[in-house]
Amino acid sequence: MYAFKIKGGHPLKGTVMIKGAKNAILPLMCAALLTKEPVQLNNISYLSDVQTLLALLKSLGCQADEQPDSLTLKAETLTSTTASYDFVSKMRASFWVLGPLLARCGEARVSLPGGCAIGARPVDIYLEALEKMGARITIENGYIVAKGQLKGADIYFRRISVGATHNTLLAAVLASGTTILRNAAIEPEVTDLALMLQKMGADIQGIGTHTLTIKGVSQLDGVCYRVVPDRIEAATFAIAAAITKGKIFMQGARLDLMMAVVDLLQPSHILLTQTEDGVWVDAEQALLTAVPVKTAEYPAFPTDDQALMTTFLCLASGEALVSESIFENRFMHIPELRRMGGTIIDVNNHSVYICGKKKLSGATVTASDLRGGVSLVLAGLAAEGETIVKRIYHIERGYFELDKKLRALGADITKIDIPL
Ligand code: EPZ
Repeated sequence: MYAFKIKGGHPLKGTVMIKGAKNAILPLMCAALLTKEPVQLNNISYLSDVQTLLALLKSLGCQADEQPDSLTLKAETLTSTTASYDFVSKMRASFWVLGPLLARCGEARVSLPGGCAIGARPVDIYLEALEKMGARITIENGYIVAKGQLKGADIYFRRISVGATHNTLLAAVLASGTTILRNAAIEPEVTDLALMLQKMGADIQGIGTHTLTIKGVSQLDGVCYRVVPDRIEAATFAIAAAITKGKIFMQGARLDLMMAVVDLLQPSHILLTQTEDGVWVDAEQALLTAVPVKTAEYPAFPTDDQALMTTFLCLASGEALVSESIFENRFMHIPELRRMGGTIIDVNNHSVYICGKKKLSGATVTASDLRGGVSLVLAGLAAEGETIVKRIYHIERGYFELDKKLRALGADITKIDIPL
């Protein structure tokens, strides 16, 4: 079982490459099922979530050409329309093959994703949308079985859902007639999917807004597309620089995608500057200052950055409330931060109150999920002494070679093999 061993106290200095967003690569890969032509995605990294989805697409008959910085998929002939439990239970975005398989083949059998560490994560909104488009949906032995020729519909999402927006958009582009998605998610990764589909020949209006209008077309062309940079990874490195009072350059990052994070870091005198090829983060004169954190849908403060900010607040002057409005169980890193000396009070299921202490002490801690896990790595970077972060497989789902990138910035972090 692998872990990260970290000795804190080293300010981060240097350049880190921010590649394509995990949460954009995954839906873009699913879009390859919609055409017989090659779909080339550039600026990607082979995170374990990407590997899992790639294995699923290959199991459906998709061919793949894996290059270091690009992945070309070709679904000329699909040999199966079943996404098995093994794949979907490992990585829930695998569920997003449902929409494109149904659109292309008129049928799909996809394992229900089940819950995960951060919440129950139902898919009711996905299924209601597909039924409105004419799909006949049954649940058989833990699988969604969907059949039917999709037709355009006027759909209102009763709750903003990134995945339901992706899945329904992927279904609508080949449906007969016009589909309107109301209260659609506007996360940059949704915009990225819509822009790539448009480049493939899809007819989509309202990109970047909460109302998307899609006129179905008979077929889509191949495409060569550069994936939007990962705003969550960029926020991770920005906060790592902030809490170690470092100065880094995030090559490829885009500040306009992370303005809610910039807003929270402003009172701490951390300078974030966009240049034409990346973002400077200068925290050498930083005075970490507590600010309230409330997660919500884009462009508000992202739930995926919440754990990172709890580490920041443990080290900041002052006290602040952190409220998590998207998922019901996204504070599993909190007990671990307490073990490192964080003063954190449980207010209710959705909020914690953090009293900054300006220092944390190294400890052995365990990751329970992706973003909570990386918040413990950040805590180790700033803590006094040695921190061991266990179960780093959670972290490697969303961060490629994180230890290597942090070492290149001057952190004392190594990947070690420890007994179970
Ligand atoms: C995507 O998850 C991201 N994952 C998540 O990132 C991110 O936290 C989330 O969007 C919110 O931004 C990927 O893109 C692969 P939702 P998704 O559907 O699509 C409820 C990370 O760390 N809901 O927007 O699953 C749901 O339970 C991951 O990179 C329903 O009730 O999120 C949640 O409370 C974690 N019924 C809320 O909506 C449904 O049918 C938002 O979920 C669908 C969702």
